[in-house]
Amino acid sequence: MADFVGAVDQGTTSTRFMIFDHGGNEIARHQLEHEQILPQAGWVEHNPVEIWERTRAVAETTLGKANLSAADLVALGITNQRETTVVWNRRTGRPYYNAIVWQDTRTDRIASALEREGKGEVIRAKAGLPPATYFSGGKIQWILENVDGVRADAEAGEAVFGNTDTWLLWNLTGGTDGGVHVTDPTNASRTMLMNLETLDWDDELLSFFGIPRAMLPEIRPSSNPELYGVTRATGPLRGEVPLSGDLGDQQAATVGQVCFGVGEAKNTYGTGNFLLLNTGNELVRSQHGLLTTVCYQFGQEKPVYALEGSIAVTGSAVQWLRDQLGIISGAAQSEQLARQVQDNGGVYFVPAFSGLFAPYWRSDARGAIVGLSRYNTNAHIARATLEAICYQSRDVVEAMENDSGVRLDVLRVDGGVTANELCMQIQADVLGVPVSKPVVAETTALGAAYAAGLALGFWGSTEELKRNWNEDRRWQPTWTEDQREKGYAGWKKAVQRTLDWVD
Ligand code: G3P
Repeated sequence: MADFVGAVDQGTTSTRFMIFDHGGNEIARHQLEHEQILPQAGWVEHNPVEIWERTRAVAETTLGKANLSAADLVALGITNQRETTVVWNRRTGRPYYNAIVWQDTRTDRIASALEREGKGEVIRAKAGLPPATYFSGGKIQWILENVDGVRADAEAGEAVFGNTDTWLLWNLTGGTDGGVHVTDPTNASRTMLMNLETLDWDDELLSFFGIPRAMLPEIRPSSNPELYGVTRATGPLRGEVPLSGDLGDQQAATVGQVCFGVGEAKNTYGTGNFLLLNTGNELVRSQHGLLTTVCYQFGQEKPVYALEGSIAVTGSAVQWLRDQLGIISGAAQSEQLARQVQDNGGVYFVPAFSGLFAPYWRSDARGAIVGLSRYNTNAHIARATLEAICYQSRDVVEAMENDSGVRLDVLRVDGGVTANELCMQIQADVLGVPVSKPVVAETTALGAAYAAGLALGFWGSTEELKRNWNEDRRWQPTWTEDQREKGYAGWKKAVQRTLDWVD
């Protein structure tokens, strides 16, 4: 009798495999990074073959560490960096081009043309998204227009599209031997191509991008009792495991944080930050720069929607301190360095490397460090980087409160950056509300495991999952109201500079 559920978390910087027990406890994990390919300013690519190889390796190693085999896994769930676009040939299994990553801004002309031609309103109404470089539709169009042979193969039904969930499901179930070509509504809702009401690809939206329908995967529920397929016996798991869960990583984290009630929200601190608020079966249209997205669809139940505030650069700003500025040797050191000063010393850092996402949606904005004087040191830059993570989250929380009319009384957090105690304390200070972190901070993989296990009755209900959630740590606000408002006013001024820079 199998006692565990596995999950693949295919993220922006790394891929991990995790195994959970019935209590939602972690049994084992392994994680490997993949290369960030940066061919020119604003371009970000991944090699899909490398991502598949990393997935194979982390699956094998995790099973080995846990001394388990495929037969011990009830089900496998997949979760993934959303929007990142892979186009491959269904006969050979070979990608035509590197994956174009969600952070890539090469499609800014495509996005602004949509707005200019008056198509923006249709995309907002049908897909819940503003035209932006962030989403998959423009990236597919770019590949169709710029990579030799893809257009003809796409018309012939040979070139197919997927986000990395679809790419991995295809490879796990068969690859060139006839893998499945499927996705779920959470991933599809990030393409600008799916109609949020019908949960199907929309012909008018497809026509905006010149994308043949035959390229697109079939959309199946996020928790799928009918299974997407089973892992092939010759694959990395060396056995047939039912594939029954698929969610974009931010929606998966929302499930892992058991935000199943209307009005419940979580904020994930990864490469970027993503705050999702469950709005139930109701589609709420944002008036304040948030996205409307599918939160999850379990089996044949009605879809649950969310409002999302997406922030492109948070944890990756800390990586930038390490890799490009060389002022820290690892993420943990950002905390030590920032702790050397009491405050930001007047310095604000707006890391608009991929433009600014929510609530501004300005693909043309670029980063800035402002307020410098001779007095400032690396420590102020480190502190300003952590504050930028928190101020960007405040921008999104304000938008969410304005849209929903609900005042947040606690912020549930997860993701790698939550290991940074100082950053979480600043978050509580900047927001003026407590910040709460669960014992299992790997909520993304956990959410994919929950979706997969729910589909097959390993967990009976969402109520059962809620009982697995326990608080590990809570940060209380310590700033005065005056400190909070002065600090935020400085941030807003700094953001304005990054927008003016372009004009
Ligand atoms: O929308 C992009 C998001 O899904 C990426 O998340 O954690 O892989 O950076 P992450």
